[in-house]
Amino acid sequence: MRLDFPPKYTEVIGAVKIHSLQKVYEIDSGYGTKTKNSQLNNSTISFGNKKISKICNEMAIVIPVKNEKLSLLEGVLSGVPNECLIIIVSNSQKTPVDRYSMEVEMVKQYSQFTNKRIAIVHQRDSNLGRIFHKLNYSSILDNYSQIRSGKAEGMVIGILLAKMHGMKYVGFVDSDNYFPGAVNEYVKIFASGFAMSKSHLSNVRVCWRSKPKVANNRVYFPRWGRISEHSNKYLNDLISYITGFERDIVTTGNAGEHALSMSLAENMDFSTGYSVEPYELINILEKFGGIINETTNSTKDFVEVFQIETRNPHFHENKGDEHITGMLYESLNVINNSKICNTEITKDIKNHMIMLQHKANNGSIKLNGNNNDHIMAPINTIPIDKFNELVIDSPQLLHLFNVQ
Ligand code: GDP
Ligand code: CO
Repeated sequence: MRLDFPPKYTEVIGAVKIHSLQKVYEIDSGYGTKTKNSQLNNSTISFGNKKISKICNEMAIVIPVKNEKLSLLEGVLSGVPNECLIIIVSNSQKTPVDRYSMEVEMVKQYSQFTNKRIAIVHQRDSNLGRIFHKLNYSSILDNYSQIRSGKAEGMVIGILLAKMHGMKYVGFVDSDNYFPGAVNEYVKIFASGFAMSKSHLSNVRVCWRSKPKVANNRVYFPRWGRISEHSNKYLNDLISYITGFERDIVTTGNAGEHALSMSLAENMDFSTGYSVEPYELINILEKFGGIINETTNSTKDFVEVFQIETRNPHFHENKGDEHITGMLYESLNVINNSKICNTEITKDIKNHMIMLQHKANNGSIKLNGNNNDHIMAPINTIPIDKFNELVIDSPQLLHLFNVQ
C-alpha cells in the first residue's frame, strides 16, 4: 500500500498527535522485496505485502453483527486477509428464528473452505455475563448481570478476546458492508497505519472516500454521511478551542472502521452503543491531551492518530432516518458530556440536540443517553489469564475454528 507521507500537518495536543488526512495512492504496491520493508520518496511511503502480512498476523479483526444478512457477513469475511484472526461478536436474535446458529454454521463451513482463523461468540450469552460479573467488570452489564446490547459492548468483548489470543492490534469492521474489496482495503489501511506509527499507542481511523446513494435512478457519490458532517464539526470546534487555531483536522469522527494498538485499546474507556467512535477521540484527548490532568502528558507515551482516506466507496445497509437521528444524538451527547468541552461549544451542541429531540418527538423516536452512565472501564482491569480460564471452562460459549 502506498500513502501520503509525511502527513500534511499534525495537531499536537499534550501527548496526542492527530495527523491530517492521508490519501491512498496504491492499494497494492507490490511484494516489497527491495532492500527494506518500506520505501519512502519525497511525498509518499509504501509498504510491501510482506510487511502488511506480518502486521496482519498480529491483528484481530472484530466484526460486530446484529441480524445482518448472512451473505453480507460472509462477504465481509471474504475481504479480511487470511493472516488476521477474525472475532465475530454477535447480538443476533435466537428466537423465533435462531439467526445466531445460522451464523455459527455459516462460519464453520466458511472456515473449512478458507482455513481462516475465526472465533464467534454471542454477546448476550448468560455465561459471558456471569464471567464479567465474577471478574467485577460491571460497567458492561445491565441490571440482570447480562451484557447490554450495543455495538460498543460487542467491541469491548472483541478487544478482550483479541488480548486473550495475544494480539498486538485490533481493528473493527462492520458486518453490513456490500463490498468485500472495501473491507480488504480497510484492513490494509489499518496495517499501514501501524507500520507508520512511531508509538506503541496508535489509533488508525478510516475516512470513506464517498458513500454512494441512489436517487432518481442515478448513483451519487456524496463525500460525507449525515452524521460525520456534524460530529466532525463539533470535534474540530473543540480542538480549535484547545489549540487556539481554527482548523479542520478531524475527518473521521464517526468512522465505523478503525483500529487500535492493544496497548492503547486496553487503557481506554468506551462509550456505549453508537457513540463509541467519536468518544474514542474524546477519551484519547481526555487521557493523554494534558488538558485535565497534567501528569498524563508524558513524552514517552504519546498517542498517534492516523486518518486515512480509502479508494473504495463505503456502501452499507441503509437503516433509515430514525437510526441516523438516534446515532447523531448519541454522538453529540458524548462530545457535550466531555470534561474537555467548553461552555461556548456546549451551547451550540445543546441547541442541536434540542432540534433533534423535536424531530424525534414528531416521529415518536426514543433517544438514548443523557449522562455518562454507560462508559465502560478499561479492560486492563480484567486479569486476562483468569478470563481465559473462565472462557475455556464454558464449553458452549466461544466457537473457535482453526484457532489453537
Ligand atoms: P452504521 O453503519 O454506523 O449506521 O450502524 P449499523 O447499524 O450498520 O451498525 C454497525 C455494525 O454494528 C453492524 O455490523 C451491525 O450489525 C453491528 N451492530 C449493531 N448493533 C449491535 C449490537 O448490539 N451488538 C453487536 N455485536 N453488533 C451490533
Ligand atoms: Co452500517
